[in-house]
Amino acid sequence: MNLNHVNISGLRPIVGDGRKLYIETYGCQMNAGDSEVVLSILQGDGFRYTEDPAGADVILINTCSIRDNAEQRIWGRLRELRQYKKKNKGLLVGVIGCMAERLREKLIDQEELVNLVAGPDAYRDLPRLLREAGGGAKAVNVLLSGEETYAEISPVRLDKNGVSAYISIMRGCNNMCSYCVVPYTRGAERSRDPQTILREARELFDGGYREVTLLGQNVNSYRWKNGETVAGFADLLGAVASVDPKLRVRFSTSHPKDLSDEVLHTMARYPNLCRAIHLPAQSGSTRMLELMNRKYTREWYLGRIEAIRRILPGCSISTDLIAGFCTETDDDHRQTLSLMEEVGYASAFMFKYSERPNTKAARHMADDVPDGVKTARLNEIIALQNELSLRSNRLDVGREFEVLVEGVSKRSDRQLFGRTSQNKVVVFDRGDARVGDYVRVRVTDCSSATLHGQRVE
Ligand code: SAH
Ligand code: SF4
Ligand code: F3S
Repeated sequence: MNLNHVNISGLRPIVGDGRKLYIETYGCQMNAGDSEVVLSILQGDGFRYTEDPAGADVILINTCSIRDNAEQRIWGRLRELRQYKKKNKGLLVGVIGCMAERLREKLIDQEELVNLVAGPDAYRDLPRLLREAGGGAKAVNVLLSGEETYAEISPVRLDKNGVSAYISIMRGCNNMCSYCVVPYTRGAERSRDPQTILREARELFDGGYREVTLLGQNVNSYRWKNGETVAGFADLLGAVASVDPKLRVRFSTSHPKDLSDEVLHTMARYPNLCRAIHLPAQSGSTRMLELMNRKYTREWYLGRIEAIRRILPGCSISTDLIAGFCTETDDDHRQTLSLMEEVGYASAFMFKYSERPNTKAARHMADDVPDGVKTARLNEIIALQNELSLRSNRLDVGREFEVLVEGVSKRSDRQLFGRTSQNKVVVFDRGDARVGDYVRVRVTDCSSATLHGQRVE
């Protein structure tokens, strides 16, 4: 028997047989993590990864539905990929991820573009789907699962810096924010077995990694029950931080309604739990927050900010904001600007509201803020954030930070870049430092995006 042609675990004939697989990833960090799970599954089935779509036998596009422009970009990319299909008649193009879940038939009906459609909970089925698609059938699996967490699968790392990696700790979302498509594309919330999370963190550390980011749509509702004992997010954070003091731990995303003092106190106990919290506000107006079904008020949100400042001095805070949600007035918008000023965000992701079919907002509220007004408001938000980022960075000038080196600077190979615990990028002269080292850097200068510094011994 030729073992190259057999999947040893199941003794099934393998599908890949050395064929080349290319994966392109759009959307959030969860998708980036999922692509690594997909690669692990398909390598186990005999596929080899290639970074060149032109030479691939299978191209998978891991997609995002969060805003209409995200989907439009993917349609454009699928049309571009037709050139490869013309050259290689056997090429299979698969759409996986959130857009696969949302559009299903609409995708597979585009026969000249798409051969396979697999939703976020169907990745274990990819070998079978590829076999079907290879035989000319329409291969679709968009079943969502209440349990799937890909818990025991060791992702094959695609992001090659060898220093920082994502670890998915939960999947799905139960929050039903009225504007958001994620609960429909990713299904119900479920947490991953902590033992498999810890094992993955240990393996990464032993493999030279020095930073992990724990991922979930709402990490603060992490919950694992084992007999009588229940582990929450604070317990998990403490356990991952204990893997090694030299392993930095970050997490994303925290929902303000669930960010507890217990989590903040746990962070305070472990210096390797990074001093950076991403706390999406979405809006500064309580009226908007209610329509968005965020389940907190402006005052509650500011109370959480106060708790961070009190329990974790020096912690940086970043956010997500949406401009022009249904019925938003100039006054609501000004409240978003004033919230930004009051918190003094270090950075922010800022978006124009994009109505998503079948969400609560699409079903029950009019998308009534004219596009020009949305754009104007978004531009004001971006301009203010640039100022706030610069202000926040200027406060760091003259101070010293421990920086984890991530790579060589794009501008000059005599310089390296890395991050502070607060998640700010610092560029500095390389000296004898290597990627993966911790170095001390004094900040000497900054822009709104980057800190510049010099190493200190
Ligand atoms: N689970 C995370 C966010 C995931 S989506 C959380 O709740 O914080 C990332 C961001 O996209 C959201 O925080 C929101 O700001 C933005 N977003 C989501 N749906 C959107 C929509 N329909 N239009 C515009 N922005 C949206
Ligand atoms: Fe979407 Fe809200 Fe869930 Fe975040 S918490 S993924 S915004 S529904
Ligand atoms: Fe996009 Fe899905 Fe993430 S819609 S933002 S890829 S969870």
